[in-house]
Amino acid sequence: MNDRFLKACRREPVDATPVWFMRQAGRYMAEYRAIRARHTLLEICRQPDLATQVTLQPVEKLEIDAAILFSDLLLPLAPMGIPFDFVKGEGPVIERPIRSVDDIQRLRSFEPREDLQHVLDTIRLVRRALEGNVPLIGFAGAPFTLASYAIEGGPSSHYGKTKALMYGEPEAWRQLCETFASVVSDFLTAQVEAGVQVVQVFDSWVGALNPDDYREFALPYTRTIVQSVANLGVPTILFGTGTATLLDTMREAGSDVIGADWRIPLDDAWERIGHDRAIQGNLDPTLLLGPVGRMLEEVDDVLFRAAGRPGHIFNLGHGILPETPVEHVQALAHYVHTRQ
Ligand code: CP3
Repeated sequence: MNDRFLKACRREPVDATPVWFMRQAGRYMAEYRAIRARHTLLEICRQPDLATQVTLQPVEKLEIDAAILFSDLLLPLAPMGIPFDFVKGEGPVIERPIRSVDDIQRLRSFEPREDLQHVLDTIRLVRRALEGNVPLIGFAGAPFTLASYAIEGGPSSHYGKTKALMYGEPEAWRQLCETFASVVSDFLTAQVEAGVQVVQVFDSWVGALNPDDYREFALPYTRTIVQSVANLGVPTILFGTGTATLLDTMREAGSDVIGADWRIPLDDAWERIGHDRAIQGNLDPTLLLGPVGRMLEEVDDVLFRAAGRPGHIFNLGHGILPETPVEHVQALAHYVHTRQ
């Protein structure tokens, strides 16, 4: 079993820096596009045999040290009473975004073992297929990021509606985030029971908040989620983008690993987080578009800043872009393993 990744999560020494990529399964890969030509994204997520195939594609194609469950952040919204779809060219579209206190009171808790059973079945199938080769990462969204989709109705650049509710109806915001925290904790517990070996909590858009607001409006709920997974003995990763000023506060959520994006140098990020935690990151995904020489120079810079300290997991600062040449991703994963 290749356990470099699990070891790095616990800040134990490793033979080579572990590497995996956010969005390592996806449109940049021909094998994914072939399946996607015949199925919608939601069909892939909801059919365990398809989700399993797609989860394994990057493991077969790249020298990576972890698999990540193929699923989507938004899946828990539907059984909570927030139906959505993915629309070509637009991304996720929520049918009836949350706009009022009434909408929040109508939200339902649900039983992940029934309503998202297909995700748990995928986990079991992937674990069997991996045969212990590399560990499997499960994931879910943090309350701020889930709330931003539920309230905006789709992607947003300034989160105006989300923040209007947060500042204007703080009690309703608290109720919404507590509901998300409880649903997500339960879903992640079910994922761990089904076999995921590490959990990543995506708070992708939380960099929209300043540190005081992060502490008041996001941290308490994210902490609930992280602690419920940590209680099961499974390592946790907390990830967001645009978080340079939030990293020291994010630390208080208690995760073993904190993800950083490319807007802050890795060594600065690690100082802010504290060297008693592991760090994941932080190459700019646009560097994978080329030229390869420039990409590898920046890889050296990231590794130089990690300084051989135990507890660095190499990743991008955000997901692989769809137009990325697959050979560049292959070269990158291989290169990280050769640089010690
Ligand atoms: O390989 C992996 O990383 C696992 C798969 C994965 C997907 N979504 C599949 C997917 C993961 C970890 C996610 C999480 C996710 N989903 C996040 C958090 C990660 C991040 O990017 O910060 C978010 C914000 C979402 C919501 C979401 N899903 C958006 C905004 C979009 C549209 C953007 C886009 O790239 O088109 C999706 C669609 C989605 N989820 C795709 C994939 C592979 C796009 C592929 C397709 O349409 O075929």
